[in-house]
Parts: sequence; C-alpha cells; structure tokens
Amino acid sequence: MGKIVFFNVLVMLLLVHGTVGSSLYDTFDIFGEIESLECEDDEIESSDSLSWASQHGSKILVNVDSFGAAGDGVTDDTKAVENAWSQACSTAKSVLLVPPGRTYLVNATRFKGPCAGKLIVQLDGTIVAPDEPKDWDPKSPRNWLQFSNISGATFQGRGVIDGSGKKWWAASCKKNKTNPCVGAPTAFTIEHSSAIKVKGLTFQNSQQMHFVISHCDSVRIYSVVVSAPEDSPNTDGIHLTGSTNVVIQNSKIGTGDDCISIVNASTNIKMKNIYCGPGHGIRKSGKDNSTGIVSKVVVDTAFLKGTTNGLRIKTWQGGSGYVKGVRYQNVKMEDVANPIIIDQFYCDSPKSCKNQVQLLSSSPDLTKIMELSKELSESFLHLKTSAVEISQIMYLNVTGSSKSAAAMKFACSDTVPCNNIVLNNINLQRLDGINYGFIQPSADCLTSSDKSYIEENELIDVEEDRLIHTEL
Ligand SMILES: *[C@@H]1O[C@H](CO)[C@@H](O)[C@H](O)[C@H]1NC(C)=O
Ligand SMILES: *[C@@H]1O[C@H](CO)[C@@H](O)[C@H](O)[C@H]1NC(C)=O
Ligand SMILES: *[C@@H]1O[C@H](CO)[C@@H](O)[C@H](O)[C@H]1NC(C)=O
Ligand SMILES: *[C@@H]1O[C@H](CO)[C@@H](O)[C@H](O)[C@H]1NC(C)=O
Ligand SMILES: *[C@@H]1O[C@H](CO)[C@@H](O)[C@H](O)[C@H]1NC(C)=O
Ligand SMILES: *[C@@H]1O[C@H](CO)[C@@H](O)[C@H](O)[C@H]1NC(C)=O
Repeated sequence: MGKIVFFNVLVMLLLVHGTVGSSLYDTFDIFGEIESLECEDDEIESSDSLSWASQHGSKILVNVDSFGAAGDGVTDDTKAVENAWSQACSTAKSVLLVPPGRTYLVNATRFKGPCAGKLIVQLDGTIVAPDEPKDWDPKSPRNWLQFSNISGATFQGRGVIDGSGKKWWAASCKKNKTNPCVGAPTAFTIEHSSAIKVKGLTFQNSQQMHFVISHCDSVRIYSVVVSAPEDSPNTDGIHLTGSTNVVIQNSKIGTGDDCISIVNASTNIKMKNIYCGPGHGIRKSGKDNSTGIVSKVVVDTAFLKGTTNGLRIKTWQGGSGYVKGVRYQNVKMEDVANPIIIDQFYCDSPKSCKNQVQLLSSSPDLTKIMELSKELSESFLHLKTSAVEISQIMYLNVTGSSKSAAAMKFACSDTVPCNNIVLNNINLQRLDGINYGFIQPSADCLTSSDKSYIEENELIDVEEDRLIHTEL
C-alpha cells in the first residue's frame, strides 16, 4: 500500500494551441533524421593489449613518458604533456599515449589543433589537476583541459580525468556564504571541432562542470562515467552548447548538478542507455538573452535515481528561439522529486519581467537566493533556452516512483503557450507510505490564473538566474 498510481496507460494530448488531429504524426516527423544516429562500435581499446606495430600498422606512438613526464602525481608534468601533444598533433597517424598505472599532474592547458591527422589520444592513466585554487593559472580561470579545433580526434581508454575539486567546492559561495561567488574551471572541454569520439573515460571530481562540448558537430560519446559527490556545487556531468549531431550512449553520470544539460543552438542530440543519479546542487547554464534553440532531442532508455528533477524543459522569456521536438521514451525513475516538468518562464509583458529583474539586481541577497534555488535545480536532462516557445514534446513509457505528489508539472505561458505535448503510457507512483488517493487533475496545466504556483516559481527562477549572472 501507500502507492498511488498517478497515470496508468494514460494517453493525453495537451492541445493548448492549434489543432493536431490526423496531422499529429506528420508534426512529429521532425525526429525522422535522428533515429539512425547511433554509436557503431562500443569496444574500448586498451594499451595493455595493444601491440601498436601489429594492430595499428603504421601508427606512431607518442608516449608522454618519453617527454620526461614523471607520472607520480606530484611532479608538475605540464610541460612534458604539452610537448607530447605538439609532437603527436603535428604527426600524421599518431597515437598520444598516457600510460596506465601512472598519474600525471597537469596545470590548466589549451591543446590546439588543427592536427596533421586524425589524432588518437589513448588515455589509460590518470590526469590530475593541481588542487589549490589559490595557485590556479589566472590566465585560464574557467578551463582546465581545453581542446580546440581538433576535428577527427578520438579519446579512448580506461583513464581518469580528475579535477581534484575538493578545495574549489569548499571555496564556493554555495558551500560557505562568506565566500565570494567566483567561477571555477570546467575540467574537460572540446570546442570548435567535428567528428569527435570519446569512449571509456572516467571524469571525476571536477572543479565545476565535468565535460563540455562547445560548438562541435558530429560527436560520439560512449561508455563514459562521470562521478562527483552529491554535494559538490555546479558539477554538471555533460554540458552541450552550440553543438549538433551528438550521441551520448551507455554512460553513467552522478554528480552534484544536472547529469546532462543542453543549451543554446543545439540540435540533433540523442541519448541512449543513460544512468543518472544522484544529482544535487545548483544548476548552471546559459545566459539569458542569447539565441536559444534546442531541437530534435531524443532520450531512449534511461534510469534516473534520486534526482530532484527528472525530464525537465525550462525556458526563459526575453530572448529568441525555441525548444522544439523532444522525445523521451523508456525512462524509469526511482525517487525523483519532479519526474516530468516543463517550466516556461511566465511573463505577461516584457515590462514586468524587466521590473522583477531590476528589483532583485538592486538588492542581491545571495544567501536568500541560494536557499531558494538549492532544492530546485538538479536534473537528469536539462534543456534550457532563453526563449519562450515549447512544442512537439513526447513522453512515451515513463515509469517509476515520484517523491512528490505532483509527478507532472506543466507551467506554460499564456501568451506563447506550449503546444503539441504528447504523453503516452506514463505510470508514476508515489512511494512515501501515505495514501493520498488519486490526484486530480491528473496533470497540472498551469496558466497565469494558477497564482500560487506561478508566483512561487517565478521568484525562484529569477533569483536563480541572478545568481548565475553574479558568477559569470
Ligand atoms: C603549474 O602551476 C604551478 C602552480 O601555480 C606553477 O608553479 C608551475 O610553474 C606551473 N607549471 C607550468 C609548466 O606552467
Ligand atoms: C581551425 O584551424 C583552421 C585551419 O588552420 C583555421 O582556419 C581555423 O580558423 C581554426 N578554427 C578555430 C576556431 O580555431
Ligand atoms: C566559512 O568561511 C569562513 C571564512 O573563511 C570561516 O571562518 C567559516 O568557518 C566557514 N564556515 C563554514 C561552515 O565552513
Ligand atoms: C549561442 O549561439 C549563437 C548561435 O550559434 C551564438 O552566436 C552565440 O554566441 C551563442 N551564445 C553563447 C552564450 O554561447
Ligand atoms: C538583450 O536583448 C535586448 C533586446 O533585444 C537588448 O536591448 C539588450 O541589449 C540585450 N542585452 C544583452 C546583455 O545582450
Ligand atoms: C518501457 O521502458 C522500459 C525501460 O524503462 C523497458 O524495459 C520496457 O521494455 C519498455 N516498454 C515498452 C512497451 O517499450
């Protein structure tokens, strides 16, 4: 007992705007071209078993140890790794090897392409960041390992990218309110590149976000693990911005923030077989006012455990763009507080939005902001744009347990309503030992007339974003 079946084999169409009828499936043709996106091979090659000469023919091995790296986790190996990179990147058919069983201490570094060929980075050892924020290179305040313009590169192996984030977390204003709010580095960034593969790696204890894909096309990420403590602030797992044709597959992510977040001009994104949890902390994502287009996103087969938000779409009024064409299917949840949530930031007129922001800007009480935003930000997948329009969203076969009574929340705006929302085969139960009976209505379709919910959320959202701006 103590279970409430909220939605059992529920087929619902939310037709807030426009008509659908027989054109429904035409409308959802939008997904057509991403169905075929998939990672073809899933095997992680290991340098242990590799005989480069025989298995890789003419590949040229560039070992960081040959450049004087100590690999003891204490000696500064930055120069050795930089030199090995230069050699490998400028040599066609090369493999940059970070050997197993060793730990390389590397400072903030920018690894630049273009490289002479399709570089393979065979990462079997551990790369660790210096752990003292006070000594961090002031020229690279927001990045640790940053790879630019490296089209065709593959990162593979059983290696670990370890941000040594502990002191950064302690220095965060979210951990101790007397600390100033300053940003911390992203551990691993790949930017301005295409045809990228990342397989098998573990990202852990990042200073802030773990793995950012920025302005890339055609990216395959599989069998990666992202791991940080539940209470580490802003440690998003994988963050996509301005990227297209991305597949994330067979991966396990558990951090202090969103497992996966997607912002700004990201299209054709597929996630398959994802384990997400836990997720606690404070969200960090795109600025408002930018072009926010997130479209053609598919999540197929995911397990979410203990996150605060499940499948979440949120937009902020004040920019241009939309979230269009998102399909969640075969998702199982356990102990998720807000399993399904659409939060289209509500605002009646540009004037009133502006006023609220100004009001908060003039009295930035960070303590209050932090308290309010703390419990509302973690998600499995967080799609966020600055824009208002949300359409063509499907939820198919979503099951499991909800921590809150409102398993589904749809907060859509009056002026630019959400449209074409499809729910099919949703079965979410509440497992808290108290029988509340059936909840009516079965899904909240909120408008401005639902004062209490809107006002409460509006306040929190504005404050959350205010906090983000303070940090950037
Ligand atoms: C790495 O950072 C440490 C601490 O700031 C500094 O002493 C050292 O010179 C840096 N190494 C390189 C190669 O820049
Ligand atoms: C990448 O490299 C190409 C070739 O050198 C260059 O033309 C381009 O400007 C580079 N792009 C970036 C973003 O650095
Ligand atoms: C917060 O930081 C201040 C100043 O560094 C320190 O005195 C205080 O003990 C810290 N509080 C907690 C709870 O760590
Ligand atoms: C968002 O994407 C647009 C279009 O690609 C780009 O011009 C803009 O710089 C991006 N904004 C941010 C904050 O990255
Ligand atoms: C945001 O957009 C408004 C309206 O387009 C524009 O006036 C303002 O300058 C923009 N602000 C920033 C920071 O880009
Ligand atoms: C529903 O999703 C679960 C995974 O959460 C999967 O095991 C099951 O086969 C799916 N059912 C259908 C009918 O596709």
